[in-house]
Amino acid sequence: MALDLDTNAPILGIETSCDETAAALVCGGRTVLSSVVSSQIDLHARFGGVVPEIASRAHLELIIPILAESVVSAGISDDEVAAVGATYGPGLIGSLLVGVSAAKALALAWDVPFVGVNHLEAHLYAALLEDPDLEFPLVVLLVSGGHTMLVRMDGPGRYELLGQTIDDAAGEAFDKVARYLGLGYPGGPVIDRLAMQGDPTAIKFPRSMLNEGYDFSFSGLKTSVINHVRKHPDVSAEDVAASFQQAVVDVLVTKARRAAHDVGAKGLALGGGVAANSQLREAVLDVCVRDGIGGFLPSREMCTDNAAMIAAAAWYKLTMDGPSPLDTGAFPNLTLV
Ligand code: KG4
Ligand code: ZN
Repeated sequence: MALDLDTNAPILGIETSCDETAAALVCGGRTVLSSVVSSQIDLHARFGGVVPEIASRAHLELIIPILAESVVSAGISDDEVAAVGATYGPGLIGSLLVGVSAAKALALAWDVPFVGVNHLEAHLYAALLEDPDLEFPLVVLLVSGGHTMLVRMDGPGRYELLGQTIDDAAGEAFDKVARYLGLGYPGGPVIDRLAMQGDPTAIKFPRSMLNEGYDFSFSGLKTSVINHVRKHPDVSAEDVAASFQQAVVDVLVTKARRAAHDVGAKGLALGGGVAANSQLREAVLDVCVRDGIGGFLPSREMCTDNAAMIAAAAWYKLTMDGPSPLDTGAFPNLTLV
């Protein structure tokens, strides 16, 4: 049953689905009182990707200090927290369980509602959190390490999945290409930086499924980059990065633009870690200006995993559907719709 919550009531959000331990306090799905994110990147970097067992152990060590810091920096006391929300999927099972268990324990101890939040849905709310003027219908391009999807959003809780990747996610392609080039983990930010010094037209990488519907495919592009570098070992890494990034951005923006046109969207929003990419942000704003629609680009901190978006999603879910039962578990393969 829906809850009638005061818009000034702080909701505690907890995020532990992958390699960020995060906690935040947000009022009314809009006003961020605090947002604390501790990234485990340094722990996983030497393995070239997230190691699930290391991630869950690190979440266990970090969860209490991060929670404490989020409450202290919000300038409130425990008894002012009105509800606790945590990501319950999708993500790594051991990591999810840390956040879900902590949230349920706090909800029980403080005698406030608990709500399980879908991580993908929360990424959609990140744009809403920063742009209160956002108008619907909206097309959201959600691009992260695990997902690449185009979503039609008609309002909080009202979505339609238009298309998604049939193989690698866009972020996964950035990470795999970076790993092959020996650039470290995560690949997105380093390729983004390197590409600034390269020529995006130097190498013609494929734009898979460019003119076919709203689904994406990035695994052929990754293979093509690897084959090119094998054949031309002396190629400039900057040119490879710039040409690869250009291919990803071309496909993402072409499809998002077409979807926005077909849906009659009032705006196009970005979400997920890859939405921090400078070239993607520029290209999206450019098509929005040309097409006369709104372009909503959450700040880079709000694009990558954080708990403010979890607390915002929790507020909408509580006010629309009410709390989740305390026997809610973790769902590694949870989908958006
Ligand atoms: O949303 P996120 O923080 O975690 C997931 O839910 O996956 O996204 C992480 C992904 C990684 O693949 C990372 O390489 C990518 O986002 N990423 C970027 C950039 N910053 C992060 N990709 C391209 N350009 C960036 N600047
Ligand atoms: Zn994410």
